[in-house]
Amino acid sequence: MYSDKLNLLPPYLFASLDELKRDKIKQGVDVINLGVGDPDLPTPPHIIDTLCKAARDPKNHKYPSYNGMPEFREAVARWYKNRFGVSLDMDKEVIALIGSKEGIAHLPLAFLNKDDLALVPDPAYTVYRIGVILAGGIPIPMPLLKENDFKPDLSKIDKKTRKYSKILFISYPNNPTSATVDESFYKEVVDFAMDNDLIVCSDNAYSEIYFDGYKPPSFLDVKNAKNVGVEFNSLSKTYNMTGWRIGYLVGNEDIVQGLGKVKTNVDSGVFNAVQIAATEALLGDQSCVEDNRKVYNERRDVLLKGLNNLGFDAMKPLATFYVWAKIPDGYDSLSFSKFLLDNAGIVVTPGVGFGEYGEGYIRFALTEKVERIEECINRISRLKNR
Ligand SMILES: Cc1ncc(COP(=O)(O)O)c(C=O)c1O
Repeated sequence: MYSDKLNLLPPYLFASLDELKRDKIKQGVDVINLGVGDPDLPTPPHIIDTLCKAARDPKNHKYPSYNGMPEFREAVARWYKNRFGVSLDMDKEVIALIGSKEGIAHLPLAFLNKDDLALVPDPAYTVYRIGVILAGGIPIPMPLLKENDFKPDLSKIDKKTRKYSKILFISYPNNPTSATVDESFYKEVVDFAMDNDLIVCSDNAYSEIYFDGYKPPSFLDVKNAKNVGVEFNSLSKTYNMTGWRIGYLVGNEDIVQGLGKVKTNVDSGVFNAVQIAATEALLGDQSCVEDNRKVYNERRDVLLKGLNNLGFDAMKPLATFYVWAKIPDGYDSLSFSKFLLDNAGIVVTPGVGFGEYGEGYIRFALTEKVERIEECINRISRLKNR
């Protein structure tokens, strides 16, 4: 019944975990959900107020423009200039997306022919890989290993793979490992892309969730980056707007316009009222973003301290709202996640869900209040002492 492409998509590994979660909730278990990367914090009120006003204006009820409203694109260009010092032409180098996921999934359609290769990090946000498969390409995993600080070792990519690859995906601050990079990594990526004629797609969705004095750079802030690549970013995590569905792609004009061409044919843009509210988010008071960071910082410290006291090997993230932790011996990531859910009512994401190199790890999302994270640590501690 299904197309070959659909049949090629990786199997959904978590059906049994989901079923267990449903059962636990049905049984009345107080489940602590640190599984999904969806902020529990609300969208700031000034953004909601702007949406409400814009939603009442009939001129916003029509089809939006394909590339995004000029006000929104200008706001993105100004935000990139202020935040990263990156100059963008709002007419050619910025496009609105129905969430960055939509753009990530569609971009390969614009550039891959059948059986072209695309270099995809592993473990990673799964949509890079899926977008490549749906476009008829072949994803080639680049292992993100702890010994390389969860960065791909580009020197290990063989000649033939370099020759037949067209796209290289990177994403820092990284989901799921929380790894971060500095500009020297991006320089290396630009050189590699120029040498091998690759399109670089950087995904900077977590650029504003950072701690301890670290501030994530943009891929586009590196010399020649705009000749080879683009960057996805999103309002989802920065302003707690995951449900609103708005993100954007910026950078190389030809690449941005290539995705634009696909989108003109498959969707009709983002509701104008959402774009107007997103413009307010980008240009308005930014203290809400700092408030978010404080919340995640406290949660991070509580979770890490607790995990480390319990003997877990968990990395201290300088960015993102995830904690990536090694699982104890005797389990794989799925069986350990099931164990935590079954015996402690805690939901985490098994590393293998992000790719084969995620095996051996679990991901905690810092999306519950500090008291719940403390409760999570207490429950794990009780398990250990059983
Ligand atoms: C690395 C990464 N990129 C992109 C996204 C998609 O974000 P959105 O489609 O909400 O903009 C996510 C969501 O979890 C993510 O983790």
